[in-house]
Amino acid sequence: MFTRRVAVVGTGYVGLTTGACLASLGHQVVCADIDTAKVERLRRGVVDIVEPGLSDLVTEQVSAGRLSFVVGATAGVSEAFPGSSGSGDLDAEIVFLCLPTPMGVGGVADLRAVEAVVEETRELLAAGTVVVNKSTVPVGTAGRTAELLDRADVAVVSNPEFLREGSAVHDFLNPDRIVVGCDTAEAAERVAALYARLGAPTVLTDAASAELMKYAANCFLAMKLSYVNAMAELCERVGADIGDVTEGIGYDRRIGQAFLSPGPGWGGSCLPKDTHALLQVADAADFEFRLLRATIDTNTRQRQRIVDKVRHAVTGRRTGSLTRVRLGLLGLTFKAGTDDLRDSPALAIAALLRQAGADLVGYDPALVAEPGNPDRPLVDEVEGVPLVNDPTEAAQGAEALVVLTEWPVFRTLDWVAMAGAMKQPIVVDTRNLLDPATLRRAGLTGYGLGRREA
Ligand code: UGA
Repeated sequence: MFTRRVAVVGTGYVGLTTGACLASLGHQVVCADIDTAKVERLRRGVVDIVEPGLSDLVTEQVSAGRLSFVVGATAGVSEAFPGSSGSGDLDAEIVFLCLPTPMGVGGVADLRAVEAVVEETRELLAAGTVVVNKSTVPVGTAGRTAELLDRADVAVVSNPEFLREGSAVHDFLNPDRIVVGCDTAEAAERVAALYARLGAPTVLTDAASAELMKYAANCFLAMKLSYVNAMAELCERVGADIGDVTEGIGYDRRIGQAFLSPGPGWGGSCLPKDTHALLQVADAADFEFRLLRATIDTNTRQRQRIVDKVRHAVTGRRTGSLTRVRLGLLGLTFKAGTDDLRDSPALAIAALLRQAGADLVGYDPALVAEPGNPDRPLVDEVEGVPLVNDPTEAAQGAEALVVLTEWPVFRTLDWVAMAGAMKQPIVVDTRNLLDPATLRRAGLTGYGLGRREA
C-alpha cells in the first residue's frame, strides 16, 4: 500500500475524522484549521466534539507521528511532513477540503470558506497535487474550484463523505461505499487508493455525479423519514401501529429496516441544509422537484403536529391553551449520541411551544455540566430554554414531559419519581423511545407517535 502525504483543511466533524482515520490507515496527515486555540487543543489531544473513539484515535495517531495539526491552510498544504520517507518533495500530495458549507441566502450553499482556501493556496500547491472536496457542495463546485485554481497541473476530485455524527469514526472506517468523482482517471484512482485497505465498493464517476450523489443520498433519507412521519400520523387516524407497519415493510430488502423511526422531524447540520440546497440545484436547472419540496414541507409540519399533540395531551382539547403551562423537555440535541444542536427539531418545537405561551425547562445528558472539567462548563440555557442538570428537576411541577431526543438513558429513568414530581402525569414521547407499560406502571399516561394507544 502507498503511504500518501495528505493535508486536510478544516477540522470539523468531517475534517478531523478524515484526518485521524486516514492516519490510522497509514497515511501521513497534517490537519489545518484557522482557529489557533482549537489547533492547540487538538495538539494536546483535546477534541471539542462528542464523537465516540475520535479523541483516542487522534491521540494515538499523534503519538504514532502520523498526524499533526497546524494553523492555516498555507501551512497545511506546504507543511514538511515529518515522517515521510523523503521523495524529495515534502508538500502535500493530496489536499482535502473539509470546510463548512452552511445554508446561505435562499437555501443556496455558502461556498465562501472553500473559495477562500482555494484562493489562499492555489499558488502553493506542488505540480501533480490532487485537491479533494469532501464537503457537501452544489453540483458544479469541482468545476468551479478548478476554475479558481486555474492550474492545469492540479486535479480536482469530488469525494463525498457519508458518515453520521455520533458514529463518525465507525462509519469512516466501515463505509458502505467510497465515491470518487473526477474527470481525470489517474487522480480519481489516486484518491480511491487512499481507502484501498477498507475494501469498500468504490464508485468511480465524474465530478458532477459524485456531487449529486451526496445530495441524492441525504435527500432520499429525508424523504424516507418524512414518509414514515406521515405514515405515523395516518396510523393514529386509522388505529394502526407504526412500529408494526415499519417492521413489516422493513423486511422487504428493497426498503430495509434502517431509518424508519418516526420522530419530531429530521434535523442536524446536514439533512435540512442538503434538502434545501438540492431544491436550489433543481431550481437552477429549471426542474420542479415536487417530491423534495413535499419532503421538506412534511418535516416543517411535523413540528407543529408535535405541538398540537402536546396541547391535546395536556388540555384534552385540540385548541386548548398552553399559556403558562410548565413543560419539561427531555433531550434538545438533534439526535442522541451527539451534543450538536444545529437545526435540532427539539429547539424548533421548543420555540413553537414558547410562542404558544408554555413555560419550558430542558434537560439533555449532553449539555450537563461536568464538575471540574473546563471543557464541559455549565450551560444554563439554550435558545431561551433554561436547562437543568437532572431529569427530575425537569419533571418538577411539569404538566407534561416531552421526550424530543432518543437518549437511551431516558428509558431507565426512575419514572415513579418523575411522576411524583409532576403536576400532571403526562409524557409525550416523540421518539417512541419509552416502554408504554413502564410508564403505565408509574401512573403516567404516555402519548407516542402513530401508536395504537396514542
Ligand atoms: C446524515 C446522514 O445520515 C449521513 O449519511 C451523512 O453523511 C450526514 O448526514 C452528512 O451529510 O454529513 P447525520 O446528520 O449525522 O447524518 O444524522 P442522521 O443520523 O442521518 O439523522 C438525521 C436526522 O434524522 C436526525 O434528526 C435524526 O433524529 C432523524 N432520524 C433518523 C429519525 O427521525 N428517524 C430515524 O429513523 C433516523
